Amino acid sequence: MITNAEWISSPIDIGEVCPIFSKDIKVSKPIQKAELSISATGVYEARMNDKRVGDFILAPGLTSYKSRLQYQTYDVTDMLENENTLRICLGKGWYRGRISAGDKVINETDGAVIAELIITYNDGSAESVITDNSWSVRTSRILFSDFYDGETYDASAECKFIGTADINTSISKSSLILQEGENVTEHEKIKPISMFITAKGEKVIDFGQNIAGYVALDLTANKGDKIVISHAEVLDSNGNFYNENYRSAKSRLEYVCCNGHQTYKPFFTYFGFRYIRLDECPRDIGIDCFTAIVIYSDMKRTGYIETGSKKVNKLFENTLWSQRDNFIDIPTDCPQRDERMGWLGDAQVFAKTASYNYNTKKFFGKWLGDLRAEQRENGSVPDTVPNFWLLSRSSTAWGDAMTIIPWQMYLMYGDKKDIEVNFDAMKRWVDFMTNDSLDQYLWTCVDDSHKMWRKHYGDWLALDAPSGSYRGITPDNFIASAFYAYSTEILIKAGKIIGKDMLEYEELHKNIVSTFKKTFTEYSTQTECVLALYFNLTDNKAETARQLNDMIVSNGNKLQTGFVGTPYLLYALSENGYAQTAYSLLLQEEYPSWLYEVNHGATTIWEHWDGIRDDGTFWSTDMNSYNHYAYGSVVDWLYSVAAGIKPVEEKAGFKEVIIAPVPDKRLGSINVSFDTSYGTIKSAWHYEGDKICYEITTPVKATIIIDGEKHIVENGSYIFK
Ligand code: BGC
Repeated sequence: MITNAEWISSPIDIGEVCPIFSKDIKVSKPIQKAELSISATGVYEARMNDKRVGDFILAPGLTSYKSRLQYQTYDVTDMLENENTLRICLGKGWYRGRISAGDKVINETDGAVIAELIITYNDGSAESVITDNSWSVRTSRILFSDFYDGETYDASAECKFIGTADINTSISKSSLILQEGENVTEHEKIKPISMFITAKGEKVIDFGQNIAGYVALDLTANKGDKIVISHAEVLDSNGNFYNENYRSAKSRLEYVCCNGHQTYKPFFTYFGFRYIRLDECPRDIGIDCFTAIVIYSDMKRTGYIETGSKKVNKLFENTLWSQRDNFIDIPTDCPQRDERMGWLGDAQVFAKTASYNYNTKKFFGKWLGDLRAEQRENGSVPDTVPNFWLLSRSSTAWGDAMTIIPWQMYLMYGDKKDIEVNFDAMKRWVDFMTNDSLDQYLWTCVDDSHKMWRKHYGDWLALDAPSGSYRGITPDNFIASAFYAYSTEILIKAGKIIGKDMLEYEELHKNIVSTFKKTFTEYSTQTECVLALYFNLTDNKAETARQLNDMIVSNGNKLQTGFVGTPYLLYALSENGYAQTAYSLLLQEEYPSWLYEVNHGATTIWEHWDGIRDDGTFWSTDMNSYNHYAYGSVVDWLYSVAAGIKPVEEKAGFKEVIIAPVPDKRLGSINVSFDTSYGTIKSAWHYEGDKICYEITTPVKATIIIDGEKHIVENGSYIFK
């Protein structure tokens, strides 16, 4: 709890050096409990008697700071001695780093920390220690730290006393909230697989996996020795270090050694990388000095998939990695370049896959709080949350995160509160589309050209884009009206779950659907067919499905879809009689396809289908991330169609389950296990010659559908041949 503490800042400007705020605390009686609460305008690391308090990396985390700034509360009972020193080091983090530079309101405040330690003694008395002007301020050895640009640390720098802290009244205490999200913590620790000299003569280390996190150093050196590290995701076609796709993010680590044995890992930054280049280092430095540490929100893993195809298994692994690397307190588009934004479209597209892989209830619950906080008066939501770039637009498929994600949370975890807290915001989003449109019952806008930054992003990165454009040719008005229908449908279902009268919206939905059908009578892109099928906007599903299937088959079993069409593409096929074609796309190995990336050495999901071309050249330097989870959304089709594990809307949270596997001999087998709060659901099938053997375990009542035949069963394990 933070009630009496004041925000405190350094009394003088110390430039880029991170300050340390400290306070000596004496304890004279036996303690029953001691709780320390901390927040910061930046990121902090607290140490009690030189021991780290808690394991949250980059606390207090990322929220829409203007109205929601988290604080953490730590139990420090066992850390206290008779004489103690509490130190809190402060970095710029998201709040004041280059990442939020567009957001002037945030930048106006100086770096500050606020903390309150409440000690309850065995005799029942209590005492609190608060940040105030009795705290002292020193310089730290962190000379520079920024998410985009990296960190500079001088291990032999002297920590100078600056003075006592100033109370900072420019920052409000009213936006402080207790931490809502998961802790961001350290996870996998990866040793390098090789160190080599490239054609250009550069010393490069390969960790074998594209990650988000940082490199830890462990070495013996002389004072003044320097290690300078650059980060990269890929090597170029000549095997040289390549990080032009980081754009302006310098992603540079500089460590100046002290004498003797020492260890270091960055405090207030992280990088997206697989390779590091040693731009400077002691000549005899060995590979063993380096360990890559992966950081991400500490979600519980729930989903496991193994198939008969090594390459599909690798695709699944890559998707897990892109989720870990981009679930660092908020869902980001990518972890490496000068972006790392909470793009709504990317999160919306991936939320279903993410919540089969891991329990995302708390993670998305917190971020939805920020989405609601950023919703504008007229119901529109910015394209990124937090809205660091002060984007004023609101776009189809991106803004629909406001309806799609709460609904997804409800389906997966069955908690009506996820609907209750979001319902009003969901409704306001739908109302915004209604009010914003030129035509009644559609969401149309002034012109439907393919200008890049107009209103919508279209079928972002689709392959039917005109040359030089990022936007596929599916018209904005088509996509926007389709999502308008879909969001309204979700709103109705959600409203009914919490007992709202949804008649008005049912009427609206009916009108949207009929107007859509009258307006968009023909489809000319894969994405148009996909949306019409998946959102139930075509009167003739059989014909639309046939058309989609023809488009794909005549294109050599290859997709052309982007961010909008891809997540639903395999569903649109498999739910309408073309499961074989869905599998052909899944198993396609030529460009463009999921396995093309696997064949080209991907260890995460790429932003572009052609991130690396067959001839080894790159898509561009401009917007080419190798760690963008959006297309990893194919994984939810593996869980819910290939293995067939689907929630029942009326019994959400897997209180009951539908298990309707769709096998294909080319995949050979699948073995999925998925942990729910009712127990573990397992669905596996494999081929024995031409016969298929299904093995299903359900902890709850299930409707198992095999070959169109329904079996209603109680919990247990079942085999079907
Ligand atoms: C991001 C995307 C995002 C997009 C908006 C890009 O720069 O990386 O993933 O959704 O902008 O179109």
